[in-house]
Amino acid sequence: TKRIGILTSGGDAQGMNAAVRSIVRYSIQRGLEPFLIYDGYSGLVQGGSKIVQAKWSDVSGFLTHGGTLIGTARCLEFREKEGRRIGAKTLIKNGISSLVVIGGDGSLTGADVLRAEWPEHIDALLESGEITAQEARENRHLMIAGMVGSIDNDLASTDVTIGANSALTRICESVDALQTTAASHHRAFVVEVMGRHCGWLALSAAICTGADYLFIPEDPPKSGEWEDKLCEALKNSRDRGKKTSLVIVAEGATDSELNSIKADRIKEILSERLKYDTRVTILGHVQRGGSPTFIDRYLGTVQGAEAVEAIIRATPHTPSQVIGLLENRITTQPLQQAIELTRSVAERINTKDFKGALNLRSSSFAS
Ligand code: F6P
Repeated sequence: TKRIGILTSGGDAQGMNAAVRSIVRYSIQRGLEPFLIYDGYSGLVQGGSKIVQAKWSDVSGFLTHGGTLIGTARCLEFREKEGRRIGAKTLIKNGISSLVVIGGDGSLTGADVLRAEWPEHIDALLESGEITAQEARENRHLMIAGMVGSIDNDLASTDVTIGANSALTRICESVDALQTTAASHHRAFVVEVMGRHCGWLALSAAICTGADYLFIPEDPPKSGEWEDKLCEALKNSRDRGKKTSLVIVAEGATDSELNSIKADRIKEILSERLKYDTRVTILGHVQRGGSPTFIDRYLGTVQGAEAVEAIIRATPHTPSQVIGLLENRITTQPLQQAIELTRSVAERINTKDFKGALNLRSSSFAS
């Protein structure tokens, strides 16, 4: 029987539990044996009670829960080769040679590196006597399927990541709530949203809440000029009769010289230059909390089934795969290409090639 290890890694995202539930149940349905690996890669390094075979009923109630019920970690040990060697040993000792990893690009890269090093780890473990020749033979090849769980929607190769829709929904609800108090006091609100180096959450939130101004990393305003433009835009909209002002700023926003643009600085400008009564709201982890929207439940469920199919289809020559969604179709693509494309967006931003970043970014969000 093929045993499948399942882990969630990096920042949690709504819909991860739906994915875990789906992988467990669909793999049982397909005659495989699912194993839950608790606390991400850290559970893989620790082994022992962190690896538990899952029954159908073990994931009951998972679908509607936010966060990840099997735990997650940002594991430093697994970033080192020695940590991955121990992880390989844990898997082999449990007879697991297929892994579904649900996480962001860093977590998925970790899985791909483990796979690339796998033959080397097998040889070393065999030589040191930590695994037997039979264990080595039975686990000669590691199969990987990645699922993208991240509120940031920052991975190339998929239109939307698991969790992004729930986080956006949460942001919109929060901003709607702010609008009523803002209107009562004729105030300006500056709202900072998550997304790391990606502006998807901020851009989508600005569209959906009717914000007056937006700052995202992919389209940074000119250094030294944006302050005037911001004031002009907000003043114009008040002159047209608006009683409030709403600015959304992505946590990774910068100007064209890559200086951070922070909510407090924006507040200062609005208070001093326009004399607006201004408040800052940093939404923080509330964006990652709470139960998943139907879209993330659905995505986790259907993509989980596809991840199992991808594992079943894989041969030793199949590269690690990543499950995505393009034009409303579930896709399976080589993981490495998706990571490379994601990284090249970041590189372009770092070298101030913002146009290039935006083009690449849009090609990864929508075809
Ligand atoms: O990647 C998801 C994310 O929520 C980012 O938007 C944010 O920058 C980061 O994780 C926060 O990380 P932590 O939960 O470790 O504070």
